[in-house]
Amino acid sequence: MALVSMKAMLDEALAGQYAVGQFNLNNLEFTQAILLAANEERSPVILGVSEAYIPYMGGLPFIAGMVESLIKHYGITVPVALHLDHGSTYEVCIRALHAGFTSVMIDASHHELERNIEITQRVTEAAHVLGATVEAELGRITGREDDLVVDEAEAMYAVPEDCVRLVNETDIDCLAPALGSVHGPYRGQPKLGFDRMGEIRRLTGLPLVLHGGSGLPDEEVRKAISLGTAKINVNTDNQIACTSAIRTYLLDNPEAYDPRHYLVPARNAIQRSVSAKMRLFGSTGKAGGVV
Ligand code: 13P
Repeated sequence: MALVSMKAMLDEALAGQYAVGQFNLNNLEFTQAILLAANEERSPVILGVSEAYIPYMGGLPFIAGMVESLIKHYGITVPVALHLDHGSTYEVCIRALHAGFTSVMIDASHHELERNIEITQRVTEAAHVLGATVEAELGRITGREDDLVVDEAEAMYAVPEDCVRLVNETDIDCLAPALGSVHGPYRGQPKLGFDRMGEIRRLTGLPLVLHGGSGLPDEEVRKAISLGTAKINVNTDNQIACTSAIRTYLLDNPEAYDPRHYLVPARNAIQRSVSAKMRLFGSTGKAGGVV
């Protein structure tokens, strides 16, 4: 199946009261594990590539080529979107689209609202010509966005009126309002701004995106979905599953040297972690076919 945009996936998720997971690619094994989990769960899936991982993984054309080759190799028959996560500039979004990505996030949330709108509008115009989808961010999501460490003090919840302006003036497809979720492990109890989430959803009418989907209690995830969250981003929980499996193997087998011996258990652990999220988000079985 060819790569698709997020449009139909998110519309269907909103209508069906579930969320589609965005799982970040870190390397080949993550890509394999996420695709295999999606196919086995019969779940639509969004593969996220954050800007910091582009050079690490060999560049945008290589990443797109790897994903397309694996889809063919495994005979994947569920909808797969390839999405740039936290693109910080117009240029990187265009390069991702040119490489074959079917969706981009323009994260101009570090700019003033006017500038954020201006950049997001340009990205949206270009992406829509190609049939690709666009996600934008308002407010700042705390914690670590890979190389980008957002200062706690700078962290702000998205303002509903600003969200309405951004949506009305840009034609984006989905919105990630910062509402207290963090990238990376939570320090203490997560406190999501559910009232504001409901208000932003009501005022904008768009599918909402929840970043920092790792480590959230199941009830908070379900509540976010009930308030119009149709996309949930997860990376840290999969990274923890991967690294724990490698650590366990190497501690038990200190003489090991063949990477397959620890990377296969790691890949299986990532796949289990992704499958569990798909079940929690309610996307299992939503691509049709037998689970
Ligand atoms: P976590 O790493 O906290 O799951 O967040 C992932 C994310 O939001 C990527 O944009």
